[in-house]
Amino acid sequence: MLTSTAPVVEPTKRMPSLEIRRMLLSDLDRVVYLEKESFPDPWSEQNFTYEIVENQFSQPYVVTNNGHVIGYSVHWCFDIEAHLANFAVDESFRRQNVGSYLLGFLISDILRKNIHSIYLEIRASNEAARNLYKKHGFREDGVRKHYYLKEKDDAILMSLSLKEG
Ligand SMILES: CC(C)(COP(=O)(O)OP(=O)(O)OC[C@H]1O[C@@H](n2cnc3c(N)ncnc32)[C@H](O)[C@@H]1OP(=O)(O)O)[C@@H](O)C(=O)NCCC(=O)NCCS
Repeated sequence: MLTSTAPVVEPTKRMPSLEIRRMLLSDLDRVVYLEKESFPDPWSEQNFTYEIVENQFSQPYVVTNNGHVIGYSVHWCFDIEAHLANFAVDESFRRQNVGSYLLGFLISDILRKNIHSIYLEIRASNEAARNLYKKHGFREDGVRKHYYLKEKDDAILMSLSLKEG
């Protein structure tokens, strides 16, 4: 049996209109803007287009507030494994449970697909993301030293096992 100890997150009282849906090409102006705001080495519009149009393993989502995109994610599903490749929330909506809401949705969605584990890697200096993933049951499995050359940072490898026991 597949299971998760991740907290179930409902839309917050302050933002009752949060919704999650698949990412569309028409979202890309906004997604690419948020991506540039969030990462020192942002994905390009072409990268996101590939995920929406071509990559058969890809599951790109956006989270909206009153129809306005305030966050997004991209994960890949391969047989019994998923890899979380991209995840961000609009700076002005951070620390209001939006990331938790989106991540909780992704974990439930992945569980339904009978996938056993979710993997990701993040910058060692990214305390916010490390805490977010830990809060949702991910554990830190290892370090890739000097993985992010430009930022001179290590990568932390994290995983969430969805298999009982
Ligand atoms: C990481 C990120 C997605 C978190 O989104 P968020 O909507 O702010 O997250 P939440 O409000 O749901 O926070 C959930 C938990 O994450 C941790 N967290 C979030 N922001 C944090 C911060 N600035 N410092 C420390 N911990 C933080 C906390 O444990 C928090 O729980 P708490 O509020 O009960 O303490 C957001 O900061 C972001 O988009 N960062 C830039 C992009 C990025 O780093 N993406 C992840 C790597 S791919």
